[in-house]
Formats: sequence, C-alpha cells, structure tokens
Amino acid sequence: MSLAGRHLVSIKDLSDAEIEAVLALAEEMEASLTQARHTSLCQGRIMATLFYEPSTRTRLSFEAAMLRLGGRVIGFAEAATASSAAKGESIADALRVLGGYADVVVMRHPQDGSTRLAAEHCAVPLISGGDGGHEHPTQTLLDLYTIRREHGYIQGQRVAFLGDLLHARTMHSLAYGLARLGAQIVCIAPQELRFPRYVLEDLRLYGCNPEEHSLEEPTLDASFWQSLDALYVTRLQRERFSRPEELAALEGSYRITPRTLEHLRRDALILHPLPRTTEVDPAVDGDPRAAYFRQAAYGMPVRMALIALLLGLAKVETGEPPQAHPSEEHPNLECSNPRCITRSEPYAPHRFYRTQGGGAPRCYYCDYYTEAAHA
Ligand code: NCD
Repeated sequence: MSLAGRHLVSIKDLSDAEIEAVLALAEEMEASLTQARHTSLCQGRIMATLFYEPSTRTRLSFEAAMLRLGGRVIGFAEAATASSAAKGESIADALRVLGGYADVVVMRHPQDGSTRLAAEHCAVPLISGGDGGHEHPTQTLLDLYTIRREHGYIQGQRVAFLGDLLHARTMHSLAYGLARLGAQIVCIAPQELRFPRYVLEDLRLYGCNPEEHSLEEPTLDASFWQSLDALYVTRLQRERFSRPEELAALEGSYRITPRTLEHLRRDALILHPLPRTTEVDPAVDGDPRAAYFRQAAYGMPVRMALIALLLGLAKVETGEPPQAHPSEEHPNLECSNPRCITRSEPYAPHRFYRTQGGGAPRCYYCDYYTEAAHA
C-alpha cells in the first residue's frame, strides 16, 4: 500500500511505518531545499487551503511547501466570513465543490471532528490543519521530525507536556505519536487542564501510562527536570474555554524562564507549536535548547513530503494502513461534546465505535464518549 489518495485527519490514520516514511522523505526534502531539487514535482497540481480559524504557520508552511514543489495554491484564510459558509453552506457541500477544483485540500476548522466529516465529502486527499481542540496531525509529524532531527531517535525519549493538555490539539496528536513510537510521556498541568479522558484511554491502549504531575508538586525538583529529554509547552487555548472565570484563574499559571533552564540538561529541547503568549519568556529564545523556531521551520519540508506522498508523486511501500475501530450509526445516541461537528451539521450521521477497553461508545468524529460523565 502507499499513501496516494489517502486523507490525513488524525495521526491514527497513519501506521508507524507510514509516519517513518513521511519523516524519511522530509529529510530528503529538507536537503533538497539547498540543492533546488524537487522543484517541479507538483507542477500542474493545485492545493486548496480552507481555513475557518486563524493560522500563521500551518497555512503558510503548507502553501510554501506546495509552491516549492512547483504546484499552485488557492484558498481562503477566513473561510467563516469570506466563503459561502457565511451564507450557511454546509461543510459537505463546500468540500464536494472544492474537491472538483483542487488535487489536495488542507482544512482547519474550530469544531472537533469537522475535518473527518469534511473528508467524507471530499474526492481528493484532505489534510487536517487542526479540528477544534481535538487533533492536529501534521503538527505532530513536524514535532516528531524535530525530536528525531535534533536527538537522532524517538524511542525511549522522555518528553514532558506542560500547559493546556485539555484543549491543545497539538498535544493530543503528539501524545499518540510518541506513545506509539515508544517514547515516555510526562504530563505537567494544572488539575483543570489535564488530558481529556478519551486521550488517556487511547494512550493506555497503546501501552502508555503517562506520568501525571501538578505544577506545585515537591517532586518537580532538580532531578525531575534533569530527567527530561524534551519539554513541549503550549499556550492556554483561550478560545476553547467556555467560562471566562475559569480562564482568568489559570492565566499565568505556568511559565518557562531562564531559571527553568538552569535545571534542564544541556541537550534537552524546549518545543512549542507556537504561537507563544506568556508561557515562554523571550529571554529563553537565545538558548540553544529553545528549539521552537527551528521546529516551525521544519514544518515546510515535512509538509512537502506529505503532499508528495498523498498525491502519489513520491512512492514508498509501507505495508498495510491502520484499521479504524468498526463503527455503527445510532441515530438516537448523542455525542456528549458540545463542540462536536455532529451538533451543528444536521446531516452528519450519529456514528459511534467502542474500543477494546470497554466503556461508553465513542463518537466516530471527535472521539468523545456518548456519556458526559466519561468525557
Ligand atoms: C497550534 C494550533 O493551531 O493548534 N499552532 C500551530 O498550528 N502551530 C497551537 C496553538 O494554537 O496554540
């Protein structure tokens, strides 16, 4: 099997071998940038970028990647107001149309599960640039690339997640990727911002039991910080809080400063998907361990590799693609997630699956449980 013609909506859509294949081709793409190779690989192909939510790096690195491969780009940066979504057009109709104009579509949308629904109506490969607070698979590819590029390998790396683990889609997808590739995951978050239950369940199914710490714990001493290979930080995802008082209570609750760096090993990496707000002091930027701007730059070769593979213009043999859990429609069941796309697109089927871990059925689009108590 190859990746040609496939959608990428969750990091779970790729097998471990397929992730490795993207990273390997990304290395070649990175090298090709200085040698001006692959500059006509995508000649005659069009990428559509359909962004219903703000973006700097994801959209522009995808567009730069396509242009560097000799392809062309069309799209919207403010799809919610600048596209027919403002006139009430459904996601399904928008994608049915775009699939006829472009060879590959990149889409970002504020609702969880939106990109999975979109892919069902898109005749060409659809790549998610982030769906609400759910997943962000291409950020994960570049995060994994960064760790491998800077440290040489992923298996056994001890990676701490600091920040808004509840809402940060980059952290959900990255945790899955790291768990599958054999890294250790350490969570450091205020109680209110721990990983959602569904993420923790999936990590356990991958055989990964993340270590969980709160920020105030006395165990977060010098030896704890010394044990880390990488520290992955995110901003508070302000736009995903439904109650302003909850957000206000958490503002400024964590921050990386030059003092934090005193405890980290000399080869540790500080990673951040960006944008940063107050959680990383700019005084840290000059330290070679601050890898976030290098990480953002790796986004382009990684996305070049992904585009080439999904368009079938670079071929790799990667074995069988991963099997999704079998799912079924249950029109009378509701997803418990108020931000799920099935709540706002009335034609979206109520489709659910169960994991081998038991528990309540889970939404096929956003992975939440049918019962709020499990969310
Ligand atoms: C992230 C995103 O949009 O989820 N940014 C990105 O894609 N690099 C992180 C964030 O917004 O905090």
